[in-house]
Amino acid sequence: MAKIVIANFKMHKTENETKDYLISFLSKYEDYKAKLILAVPFTSLPICRFLLKGRDIALCAQNICEDDDKGYTGEISGKMIADVGANYVLVGHSERRTKFKEDNKTVNKKIKNGLKNGLSIILCVGESLADKNSMKTLATLKSQIEEALKGLYENELENIIIAYEPVWAVGSGKTPTQKDIEMALKSIRKVIEEDFSSKAGKEIKIVYGGSITSKNASKFANIVGLDGVIVGGASLDNNIFMQIINAMA
Ligand code: 13P
Repeated sequence: MAKIVIANFKMHKTENETKDYLISFLSKYEDYKAKLILAVPFTSLPICRFLLKGRDIALCAQNICEDDDKGYTGEISGKMIADVGANYVLVGHSERRTKFKEDNKTVNKKIKNGLKNGLSIILCVGESLADKNSMKTLATLKSQIEEALKGLYENELENIIIAYEPVWAVGSGKTPTQKDIEMALKSIRKVIEEDFSSKAGKEIKIVYGGSITSKNASKFANIVGLDGVIVGGASLDNNIFMQIINAMA
């Protein structure tokens, strides 16, 4: 099965820059190579929807408000995101947890609102350096996942991808060992198994993110139980991103 490959542009690229990137990228990319998901800034969603017409590539927003139709100046609702063509939304990214103080309760509300609006969810979880150094990685993953998925029905997990992104690996040039990733994958699946069912634990899609480059991408292609990757900085150059997709294919 094709691997999931997600680009997270974060707060990069104007609408025009996204357009130039996509035109160049799409002229070289064949849709069967990956289950590709592009997480672009809100302002680039409409141009992406236009350029991706007829292609098997999904579009993802990077944030969602937990409510729709409220007097919340500056927020963007799930209804609005879905309306401009997003199929997915990123929730719980460590940059939002740390810089914007989003806790697991908020993450849970955002997930529920995304699902209500017909969006699939990419739920980001991962331990901080302090967690890692004090051997709390697995406990952190467990509480992040349990609180994020509280109150969800098992069939809703079909619309959720878990992105394992250790906070210390994001943008740092550092990546976990294969053994550490395998351990994290195992414990994520175990939490889902305990809280939902063994079938759900087996079937939940999990990707890894944090300092993936064209040089190290192949290391992530053959990890058992890993369904794909989520790429930040290295997705911003379409040639480098293409190399990563090819390494995963
Ligand atoms: P980098 O690939 O830049 O480390 O970012 C990873 C990430 O945050 C993906 O969501």
